Amino acid sequence: MPGIVTVNTSPYEGQKPGTSGLRKKVKVFLQENYTENFVQSILDANKGAVAGSTLVVGGDGRYLVKEVVDKIIKICAGNGVSRLLVGQNGILSTPAVSCIIRKYKTLGGIVLTASHNPGGIDNDFGIKFNCANGGPAPDATTNQIHALTTQISQYKTVPDLVCPIDKCGVQKFDVEGQTFTVEVIDPVDDYLALMREIFDLPAIGRLLRGEGGRKFNVLIDGMNGVTGPYIQRIFVQELGAPPTSVRRVTPLEDFGGAHPDPNLTYAAELVEEVRSGDYDFGAAFDGDGDRNMIIGRNAFFVTPSDSLAVLAAGAAAVPYFRSRGVAGLARSMPTAAAADRVAKELGLPVFEVPTGWKYFGNLMDAGRLSICGEESFGTGSDHVREKDGIWAALFWLQVLAASGLSVEDTMKEHWRKFGRNYFTRYDYEECASAPCAEMMLSLERTITAPGFAGSVLTGQGKAYTVAAADDFSYMDPVDHSVAMKQGLRIIFTDGSRIVMRLSGTGSSGATVRLYIDSYELTDVLGDAQDMLRPLVDIALQLSDLPRYTGRAAPTVIT
Ligand code: G1P
Ligand code: ZN
Repeated sequence: MPGIVTVNTSPYEGQKPGTSGLRKKVKVFLQENYTENFVQSILDANKGAVAGSTLVVGGDGRYLVKEVVDKIIKICAGNGVSRLLVGQNGILSTPAVSCIIRKYKTLGGIVLTASHNPGGIDNDFGIKFNCANGGPAPDATTNQIHALTTQISQYKTVPDLVCPIDKCGVQKFDVEGQTFTVEVIDPVDDYLALMREIFDLPAIGRLLRGEGGRKFNVLIDGMNGVTGPYIQRIFVQELGAPPTSVRRVTPLEDFGGAHPDPNLTYAAELVEEVRSGDYDFGAAFDGDGDRNMIIGRNAFFVTPSDSLAVLAAGAAAVPYFRSRGVAGLARSMPTAAAADRVAKELGLPVFEVPTGWKYFGNLMDAGRLSICGEESFGTGSDHVREKDGIWAALFWLQVLAASGLSVEDTMKEHWRKFGRNYFTRYDYEECASAPCAEMMLSLERTITAPGFAGSVLTGQGKAYTVAAADDFSYMDPVDHSVAMKQGLRIIFTDGSRIVMRLSGTGSSGATVRLYIDSYELTDVLGDAQDMLRPLVDIALQLSDLPRYTGRAAPTVIT
């Protein structure tokens, strides 16, 4: 009978969850008790509720996931958790964890992922706690977890408990007279069951099999991340798409050396295949399956801000929304406002929240929000409390199956009706932290100085008048909690915006994100980079970014 051991430990600095959980280099997590401290602090933050509870545990298949699952099993046994639902081989996509937490009404879940960050021994790992609503823990909880990591002196574990996770099934252990159950579950079953409830999958299947006379070829890219088994099961087995419709569908610990982030830079292979091949639709997902990128024939690119708007406008094609209706829309602050125009047309409320999925959860729980998204390739709804990549691709396919249009024509028709929010994001990755912090301070001083509002700024000969400028803050309309300093924004009188913020998901250094958007009612077919160049120019001058970062060009342009 395995026994509980109390291990003495001491705090590590910097165990502060960022935009989405604690993310650090693998080698940081490998330090003695580093992982144990954080897991114990998660459980301590739920004190009183942990004994006798059920938790979900799984991750994106990256290096260290299996080892950390094993540690979590032992620490949960040591802390009186009564049951764990663990993905087979430690595999569970982030939206699947959310789905399973909600379906089985568990206390929450621990997600092992650094999302779209590269994996492998020299790269990133991450641990995130999701609450009983299935969503990422709110700031109050993550702050509490962080506070506990600064005081921790002991953790409890059951070192002798041996629990293999390579086969599905129930294992029961007697831990000092209490039964501790580990249920190793199929990673896809519950998620697929939910997709069957939401969508008319047979209609999507007919489209993908070319029935009804319309040939429609898709290429779905798992980027060697966690979505592989989901893609294989849903697109090939369930929907009957040919096996050649999927690529990179085996989860690899280092993602095959790829950077599993579905954007035009890191998913370039998919973009090239769709551009040169006979495909009507391409989609890629990130390491943990919550992000998506959608492209059409000839690699026609859909910005995530537009994708959100198109899906919101087409929600009636989806049985889930037909029967439940759509309560409201939301987007993160830097996301272009295309969805706002759809909300206006449909008479729906629209919310603007800080960056990070955790801010959508309260609105969903209160029944005020149904469909939301972020410019960072995140789209989702109240079916779970995470963004959901595969769901977004299925949503697009449902809309296309109903309309009979191509991706490009869908987009162009949307712009003709609503106008177009041109959008671009420049990322300057892994810059030195101190000069970036200084740059942000100086920019904040500039834009909040008296007289800045009302001033005229000129880029490439085009003049814009500043209407307002601030450091974005948000009060949650449900619990009235306030999030401050969520990004510097300059709003011009024509509605164009410049937004600049520092990333909260990086594992080292600083990443500067510059977001530009501009609305055009009739001139909707231009090239986004050409259209936005004057504003980019203004942003670079105003922030003096090239000097502070030493970078002449961004790492990634979206
Ligand atoms: C980034 C994105 C943000 C997203 C988060 C998690 O955060 O910008 O929209 O919610 O990843 O996927 P950031 O690195 O900008 O803090
Ligand atoms: Zn992700």
